Amino acid sequence: MKYVVLAMLAGFLVWACSSEKVEPELVTAKQNPSRLNPNGDSELALLMRSMTVYMETIRDSVQKEAPFPDCPTEFEALMVAKETEGMIKDRNHFNAYADQWLSDLNQVCTSTGGNRVKAYERLRSSCLNCHQSYCQGPIPKIQRLSIQNP
Ligand code: HEC
Repeated sequence: MKYVVLAMLAGFLVWACSSEKVEPELVTAKQNPSRLNPNGDSELALLMRSMTVYMETIRDSVQKEAPFPDCPTEFEALMVAKETEGMIKDRNHFNAYADQWLSDLNQVCTSTGGNRVKAYERLRSSCLNCHQSYCQGPIPKIQRLSIQNP
């Protein structure tokens, strides 16, 4: 029984981190009918979705050579947002990546001219760095956010 639970948990974590989800309600219901708040809806996951949208927005601005929207402050929640259970074992380790990302975000917001592409790509690498440690599923999606490779 212990192994069944472990296997379910493992499947659950892999699924939580996948970027392309197929009928999530169905999968969740099968895997873990008792879970009220299926994974993918943690505070951190929701924050990640708006970070992804933000990346698409600023990539657009860079490509059109249009000004950036105001620098968002809500992403500071990265340091405290509640994750899907079991996703982060050492918050200090995680927050080192988060801190780097926020500092790269600041660089993007203050970048101008030809530096904007570089700053954007550095921010995107920062997404990737954390994801290599914490949640591999969305990596292809983050790769597709590249300006070189839209
Ligand atoms: C500090 C580490 C860290 C950084 C930086 C980071 N992520 Fe994440 N990301 C995570 C973790 C951990 C999860 C899993 C969240 C959960 O399930 O609670 C996640 C989940 C996601 C998801 C899946 C969300 C869902 O719907 O379940 C996407 C997409 C994503 N990240 C994209 C990005 C993008 C794009 C960036 C950069 C703009 C980024 N991430 C930066 C750690 C990070």
